[in-house]
Amino acid sequence: MAKKILIAYGSFSGSTAETAEFIGKKLSEKGMQADVKPVKKIKSLEGYDGVIIGSAVVMGKIKSSVVKFVSANKGALSKVPVGYFLVCLTMQKDTPENRKTASGYLQPVSSVVKPVSEGLFPGKVDFKKLPFPMSLLTLMPAFKKGVPEGDFRDWAKVEKWAGEMSSKF
Ligand SMILES: Cc1cc2nc3c(=O)[nH]c(=O)nc-3n(C[C@H](O)[C@H](O)[C@H](O)COP(=O)(O)O)c2cc1C
Repeated sequence: MAKKILIAYGSFSGSTAETAEFIGKKLSEKGMQADVKPVKKIKSLEGYDGVIIGSAVVMGKIKSSVVKFVSANKGALSKVPVGYFLVCLTMQKDTPENRKTASGYLQPVSSVVKPVSEGLFPGKVDFKKLPFPMSLLTLMPAFKKGVPEGDFRDWAKVEKWAGEMSSKF
């Protein structure tokens, strides 16, 4: 029977959601049944052989809804292989230091349920897609200087990680 995998995510402006969909597609291509859903819409983890959980990073933190999801489902998540991924600006440059910083963003969930793997990816910033009140930040020149707009995602890197994860389920 095909392995059933859940890809759960928390996203502000859509790039984490798109990355989660992409991972789901790659797992499907490997013959798995992949369900891709925002964490807030997940009622139960019953029947899943593995779970991948992704988040955006804002102001040095992953989404609180993702942290709550992992804490609330600690029991069920502890019984299956779990992988975490994040998309963020820190990973624009893949250096040991930046990997350490990005991995640190996952600490609120990795300290609750230890993952079999962490996917640390560069993200995307599109000021037009920021939800209110976050969009107000774009009125500040200092913010625009520190948070560059652009799509920095590296799909080859995400695909490689999805392949590695698929062998762990
Ligand atoms: C207001 C704001 C704050 C951000 N803060 C950080 C940060 O502290 N560290 C980081 O690495 N990336 C940061 N980012 C980059 C986001 O994590 C990245 O754009 C991500 O792809 C957004 O995901 P989403 O489109 O799913 O919301 C920030 C982006 C925005 C818009």
